[in-house]
Amino acid sequence: MARVTWGLATSHVPSIGAAMDHGKTADPYWKPLFDGYAPAREWMAARRPDVAVIVYNDHANALDLDLVPTFAIGTAQRYEVADEGWGRRPVPPVVGSPELSEHLVRSLVDDSFDIATFHRLDVDHGLTVPLSVYCPDPGDAWPCAVVPVLVNVIQYPQPTAARCYALGQAIGRAIRSFPPDLDVAVFGTGGMSHQLAGARAGLINTPFDRKFLAQIETDPSALAALTREEYIAAAGTEGVELIMWLVMRGALDARITRIHETYHVPASNTAAALALFENGVS
Ligand code: DHB
Ligand code: FE
Repeated sequence: MARVTWGLATSHVPSIGAAMDHGKTADPYWKPLFDGYAPAREWMAARRPDVAVIVYNDHANALDLDLVPTFAIGTAQRYEVADEGWGRRPVPPVVGSPELSEHLVRSLVDDSFDIATFHRLDVDHGLTVPLSVYCPDPGDAWPCAVVPVLVNVIQYPQPTAARCYALGQAIGRAIRSFPPDLDVAVFGTGGMSHQLAGARAGLINTPFDRKFLAQIETDPSALAALTREEYIAAAGTEGVELIMWLVMRGALDARITRIHETYHVPASNTAAALALFENGVS
């Protein structure tokens, strides 16, 4: 049977990918952020999963706002890197795991999560930046297959944090019922506090972020109890992306082991963080 081996939570700020693509990671602006990633990258490099289930949102790149599914899963053999207006990032295409995708879709629907399915999907910075955080030098191919799980965090009403946590728990059950003997990592992406437009553009809420970073390990139910309005009030209109970390957390066991954490302000106008957890107690 497949198993969930570890979980990674990471911001997916586009400029983090651009800094890597343009060789700027040692610049004074970026070095502290990338230095903070180093121990996690080393740990993950020694524990490559067979498949990464990556929970992310599309930012109106592959999807337009005419049709925004609340939850969706990609089932393709391969996902092209989206052109977000500056050309495609110079990173490999993403290879899918249609078998695990189909199993997840079937299991989730049977578990009363009526999930949408993408048979074709270009993946934007929401997915490719976390892959680059995980694996900075992929060469010609990423070191694992990917199942994209999409969450609507861009159009009201976003799903509740509680529903995201429950979806994660259902994804965990589905992975553990997949017969092949596979190691599966789960990524939760987005956040931390940030707001890109409007009167509060540039909002950062470090006390909220720090509490969230602590509770995602020890008390995810408290985070699942917050309303979307509370997330937006505390973390900004785009900070609501943090509900995607709860999908990752739900897929892991109740007890997890924190391997590494880093928090850095700012990356562009965003509070950026990484939190890496081994599943279970080591
Ligand atoms: C930005 C975009 C994002 O999707 C995000 O999560 C954080 C920052 C940006 O454009 O700066
Ligand atoms: Fe985003």
